[in-house]
Amino acid sequence: MSDRQAVVPNDLSAFWMPFTANRQFKQAPRMFVGAGDMHYTTSDGRQVLDGTAGLWCVNAGHCRPLITEAIQRQAAELDYAPAFQMGHPKAFELANRIVSIAPQGLEHVLYTNSGSESVETALKVALAYHRVKGEGSRFRLIGRERGYHGVNFGGISVGGIVTNRKMFGTLLTGVDHLPHTHNLAKNAFSRGQPEHGAELADELERIVTLHDPSTIAAVIIEPVAGSTGVLIPPKGYLEKIRAITKKHGILLIFDEVITGYGRLGTPFAADYFGVTPDILVTAKGLTNGVIPMGAVLVTAEIHDAFMQGPEHLIEFFHGYTYSGNPMASAAGLGTLETYRQEGLLTRGAELADYFADGLHSLAGLPNVIDIRNIGLVGAIELAPIPGSPTKRAFSAFLKAFEKGVLIRTTGDIIALSPPLIVQKHHIDEIVETLRTILSDLD
Ligand SMILES: Cc1ncc(COP(=O)(O)O)c(C=O)c1O
Repeated sequence: MSDRQAVVPNDLSAFWMPFTANRQFKQAPRMFVGAGDMHYTTSDGRQVLDGTAGLWCVNAGHCRPLITEAIQRQAAELDYAPAFQMGHPKAFELANRIVSIAPQGLEHVLYTNSGSESVETALKVALAYHRVKGEGSRFRLIGRERGYHGVNFGGISVGGIVTNRKMFGTLLTGVDHLPHTHNLAKNAFSRGQPEHGAELADELERIVTLHDPSTIAAVIIEPVAGSTGVLIPPKGYLEKIRAITKKHGILLIFDEVITGYGRLGTPFAADYFGVTPDILVTAKGLTNGVIPMGAVLVTAEIHDAFMQGPEHLIEFFHGYTYSGNPMASAAGLGTLETYRQEGLLTRGAELADYFADGLHSLAGLPNVIDIRNIGLVGAIELAPIPGSPTKRAFSAFLKAFEKGVLIRTTGDIIALSPPLIVQKHHIDEIVETLRTILSDLD
């Protein structure tokens, strides 16, 4: 090994970290070197309680045996199989298992390697579906303000986060946006779904009228917007969006990258709200975050529309080298089996009230302007420091890490989404740590 190589492992400069304040991080790195169940181990040997399931993905907790063993076995048995024109059994087995826990009517699965790729795949399926049906004039996509659909060009185009869009030119054309539903004046400190705002869904009628329904392919929304701070749909809102899309022959895509696989106490948010989309986008919890993988579920009607023409021809010109990768499929099977054995896809429902009580007990602390929750997701919104937005929440994040709890912040909002194996005493620890920090935060 050359001297240069020997030095590299301890040098932090080469890795340009994603969505990270790189310079701040590299001055005072926060490194995890191990994990088990509800905790991380830091490089200085401390235990940190995972209040965020990693990045909303480690739903079964860390280093779970069924998943670890499945991956170990798979690596020794079949490392890779070509994804195009070849198959391997576990990709099919996993697709069947996903369909078996999915809302009724979603019967076919396309694999991806991330939430961002799942979003691109869903948008492309939607556009192509209309075209194969002879309705190629439907090219427009409707997203929503404050929506997060990953970081690829389709996702940032339909997404509604200015910082993620403004650097990147013209994005996709033919995109419009619904207004977001966040309304502190009317809905602050709601438990569960807020009362006010269902009428915001009527904006879809306005957009549809403006462009004409015959030009609109799909509407994509997160049933609960996660990354922009846990924005919970007002009562009746999703039902209205579903009715309007159906009326106009527009596909409804739910981005369930965060809400999928038990986060709300039901397998999917579609189950929680009783509203079924035409396309359901997932990733994260599918493999417990262990190996990158996403899955896009579509109805039989969409799938079948493509299955025409000569049988030797490819029906849909889309896919990835790693679609349904053997290691990822094994991880997915281990994950879904863990969820099944431990009842994790519905466990959130049992703990939701306790979690809500804990979070809402923080009301009245300095600078807390909202607390909201649904299933095992919660948010505490802080008043920004005048002239320094995001700083207050970021310092809460740093203090929580020092005190041994991992939280996540977005803007001045603290978001919480513990692994679904969380126990009541873990919830108490998260809440009491936040109480101490928020009581004494600049
Ligand atoms: C709703 C939603 N969609 C898409 C994504 C993108 O997923 P990934 O980071 O795996 O590309 C995320 C990530 O947080 C998400 O929350």
